[in-house]
Amino acid sequence: MAKSTAASRDIASTIHPYTNLKVHETDGPLVIIEGDGVFVRDENGKQYLEGLAGLWNASLGFSERRLAEAAYRQMLKLPFYHTFAHKSTDIGIELAEKLLSIAPAPMSKVFFVNSGSEANDTVVKLVWYYNNAIGRPKKKKIISRTKAYHGVTVASASLTGLANNHRDFDLPIANILHVECPHFYRFGLPGETEEAFASRMADSLEQRILNEGADTVAAMIVEPIMGAGGVLLPPVTYFEKIQAILRKYDILLIADEVICGFGRAGEMWGSTLYQLKPDMITCAKALSAGYLPIGAVMITETIYDALVKQSEKIGVFSHGFTYSGHPATSAVALETLKIYEQDDILAHVRRVSPRMQAGLRRFADHPLVGEVRGIGLIGAVELVADKSTKTSFDPAAGVGPFLYKRAHHHGLILRALGDSIAFCPPLIISESEIDLMLERFTLALDDTFAMVRERGLIESAPVPVFAK
Ligand SMILES: Cc1ncc(COP(=O)(O)O)c(C=O)c1O
Repeated sequence: MAKSTAASRDIASTIHPYTNLKVHETDGPLVIIEGDGVFVRDENGKQYLEGLAGLWNASLGFSERRLAEAAYRQMLKLPFYHTFAHKSTDIGIELAEKLLSIAPAPMSKVFFVNSGSEANDTVVKLVWYYNNAIGRPKKKKIISRTKAYHGVTVASASLTGLANNHRDFDLPIANILHVECPHFYRFGLPGETEEAFASRMADSLEQRILNEGADTVAAMIVEPIMGAGGVLLPPVTYFEKIQAILRKYDILLIADEVICGFGRAGEMWGSTLYQLKPDMITCAKALSAGYLPIGAVMITETIYDALVKQSEKIGVFSHGFTYSGHPATSAVALETLKIYEQDDILAHVRRVSPRMQAGLRRFADHPLVGEVRGIGLIGAVELVADKSTKTSFDPAAGVGPFLYKRAHHHGLILRALGDSIAFCPPLIISESEIDLMLERFTLALDDTFAMVRERGLIESAPVPVFAK
């Protein structure tokens, strides 16, 4: 039964995203009521270190007054205006200019949206519109990857390569293809080098393009680091090889920077980190540090020119949201970008992230841990039933979710992506807070180890030295 009035009211009133709705009816929610730095507090006064920055987005933590004040000032001045039919706002113009000035590749224009999903839905439409505009009506297929995450609206959920985002939602829609997930640890063959694996991934992409017919394939969308699929870093040389193939067949590259954008991996963009040359970029989340919903799509001059010609022909570019370029969200995003610059957030991430990465790698020897991966302030620890064979636990055993719950008990919020436990703390996290996060994770891992031994889910492995 619900533990409190707020919990029972929640159960009676709300459908929760990404939640087992049946379990929720009995267990109810964790009700968070306030935040301070990298911590949040629940209705009972219990404090949690937010190891996932909410949903990979609260880059400046939970108490940045400058963002609250920017929203307040803008709302007093102009609480709403739109960008339809030749209207604009001073603050929206400033934000667009700022984004273009920091883009990882030459971009010509920005289109504002309210979320990562809307951004990716928008690029699907733009890819189609663009190819119609330049007289290639057959070139419409968009390639994504298994385990990719690009959102949940109809087109972006179709791009997403996770089974539960399609199952019983009657997705994916037509013209979306999924190619292999380039996770070397999971899908590399015995004896295969990382580079040889990358070549195999690229060869198989090329084969797929040829099988489909290159004249039918319009674009490929990639997260520089795959987030919700398990925090999967590209194998060495992967993007170099993929991009050569896309260029060969005149296929656009779309970089989904919704998680990587704005410093997460120690560069302003994942595209910079991996030398991507995208034709379109989507971003959201840390664009406003998560304080208000905003996302953006950036496109090159070539694509923009085609949109102009098409809208001239049709009479209008019929796409846009009531809140595209909302003044309050724009003000908060602009202030966020100012803070990143003034506080040199990149330098901070580069300074503290080795502490997190080295700390996470200490768990690599743990009998429950198959792989530790990450860069900058993003990482994951993948739990396995058998280290030597990389055998995963039966998902029904709920090992990852168990650890996630024990972490709550120890005052830490992470995310269990199956049995990969994701870390993505606010970018402002200090070294001592990283230590605290890792200490609390150790306790949750110890509890999980005890549970799997007790339930006989793992062979009688020795108790690791740093477990209690
Ligand atoms: C890489 C990526 N793209 C798109 C999205 C969708 O963003 P939103 O939830 O704002 O629609 C997410 C959300 O986690 C994401 O991680």
